[in-house]
This record gives sequence, C-alpha cells and structure tokens, in this order.
Amino acid sequence: MVTTVADNTLKNITGTILLAGAGKMGGAMLTGWLAGGLDPRRVAVIDPHISPEITALAEQGVVLNPGVTAAGTVETLVAAVKPQMFREAGAMLKSFVSDQTAVVSIMAGTTIASLQQVCGGAVVRAMPNTPAAIGRGITVAVAANNVSATQRAVADALLRATGAVEWVEDEGLMDAVTAVSGSGPAYVFLLAEELARAGIEAGLPEALATKLARETVAGSGELLHQSELPSSTLRQNVTSPGGTTAAALGVLMGEPGLRELMIRAVAAATTRSRELAK
Ligand SMILES: NC(=O)c1ccc[n+]([C@@H]2O[C@H](COP(=O)([O-])OP(=O)(O)OC[C@H]3O[C@@H](n4cnc5c(N)ncnc54)[C@H](OP(=O)(O)O)[C@@H]3O)[C@@H](O)[C@H]2O)c1
Repeated sequence: MVTTVADNTLKNITGTILLAGAGKMGGAMLTGWLAGGLDPRRVAVIDPHISPEITALAEQGVVLNPGVTAAGTVETLVAAVKPQMFREAGAMLKSFVSDQTAVVSIMAGTTIASLQQVCGGAVVRAMPNTPAAIGRGITVAVAANNVSATQRAVADALLRATGAVEWVEDEGLMDAVTAVSGSGPAYVFLLAEELARAGIEAGLPEALATKLARETVAGSGELLHQSELPSSTLRQNVTSPGGTTAAALGVLMGEPGLRELMIRAVAAATTRSRELAK
C-alpha cells in the first residue's frame, strides 16, 4: 500500500524531531528534511561526533546534542545509529521518548518488538537504501498498531525526503525487503564492476571499460526511472533477433543464468536478515 502525503507535511511539522545518529543515512535524511521545508528549529541532533556540515546547521537553528530538558517534548525520534550501537544508545534515547512520541527507526534488522522494548513510543520500522544520499532512495516502512494516522503521515514525510516510500502491513516482509532494495544497490554496483572486468577481458583499456560500464549502468538506471515501460520491455527494445545483445542475453538468461543466481542471492540475504534480526 502506498500512502500519499500532502507536500506541505514537512513544512507543517511543529513538534520536535530528534535525530539520533547523524551519519551517512541520518545526515542524508536531515538534508532532505531541510530542503523539503522543515523548519531547522524543529530539529535536534544527537551524535557523539557531529560532522562540520551538521555543526554548521546550528546557525540555521538546528539544536545539537541537547539534554532531555532542552529537547522538550519530542514528537518524533528518528533512530539512525548502527544497529549494534542501539542497545547501548537505547537507554539514553528512551529518556527523550514519551507515550506520545513516534519512534521511526531505519536500523537494519531491528524489529518493532525490540524497539518497543528498548525505547517505547509508537514505532515505525523502515528500511531505506543508499541512493537516499542523492534523494533517490526507496524506503519500505511498517507501523506498529499504536501508531496514529498523524504519526504515520509525519513518518512518511520524513522518510519521503530521501526518495520514494512504500508501506507494508506485515513486518515479516522486511527481511525480503532488506534483501531486495536494502542490499540491492550493491548488486547493481557489482554489475558495473563485472561489466567493466568483462570489457577488459574483451580487449578494452581498463579506463575505457570502467567508464563504459559505469555510464551504461547509470544511464540505464535513469532510463528505467524516467520510463513508464517495464524493464522487460526496455530490454526487448534493445534486443534485435540474432543480434549482439541477443547473443549476450542467451548466456545471461541461460541455465543456470542470472535468474537462478539472483534468486539464490536474495534468498541468502533474506536468511541472513532473519538471523540478524533482534
Ligand atoms: N547506509 C545505508 O545504505 C543504509 C541502508 C539501510 C539502513 N541503514 C541503517 O541506517 C543506520 C545508520 O547507518 P549509516 O550508514 O548512516 O551509519 P553511520 O554513517 O555510521 O552513522 C551512524 C551515526 O550514529 C552515530 N552514533 C554512534 N553512537 C551514537 C549514540 N549513542 N547516539 C547517537 N549517535 C550515535 C555515529 O557516530 P560515530 O561515527 O562517531 O560512531 C554515526 O555518526 C544503520 O542502523 C543502518 O542499518 C543504512
């Protein structure tokens, strides 16, 4: 299910948004929030080593490392620390959370039950991916039963600041989500690496092969993004019968081919996500 939220949700936020962990993903979210019109004075950041870029946001009104009293009533806590840091940070973060606080977690493998146990509040568990850094991520979110419609709308707006958002009702899907979109960018980067390597094997100079592979993956991704056609149609559109692309696809779509490999890869990541869940 996709939730559509009015564009002005970020601008209309009047409560405090507390960001715990302003690293790669938390920092990207904060950048997106401010670009989307969230009042910087509504944001407080907790991080033991705040980067110079985020320190500079204090001039716009972002509050850095406030105590519980200075933070005031926290409407939404966004937990973006490493999952392994959460157990340690959780007790400290809990002091900022009341029954009215929405806790939006982007921590991989950290379940709603675990978040409720450590932090309390009304929990939204989300899985973004790394293109969030350029506002082109996709995030899948699932809300606990006690999350109100308003809290969900605010969570949606905060997550949507780094790209698309899909909501699911079944938390059990998050392991497969992690395996497809969370880990997925690495599969695409691997494709660029191996296409370059194959180009070198075929006789191209390394620099040229690397550039061709990189731009082909990036340009094809952009075409897929901008086109309304399914990827299979885009593929068929560049595949003449008996041509060069058909020759290569005969290998990639053979037995065993990319389909079997991808099924195994996603199954391995799903299994690992289940093992790591806590
Ligand atoms: N990057 C991705 O593509 C991606 C995708 C999906 C989900 N995620 C999730 O996003 C979360 C953050 O990942 P990331 O890549 O942004 O990691 P990161 O760059 O290491 O950011 C984590 C930040 O949290 C800070 N931190 C550590 N202990 C803290 C504490 N007690 N209180 C407050 N802040 C604390 C870290 O500071 P120090 O560096 O000083 O320790 C760091 O600035 C993870 O849970 C990850 O599972 C990331």
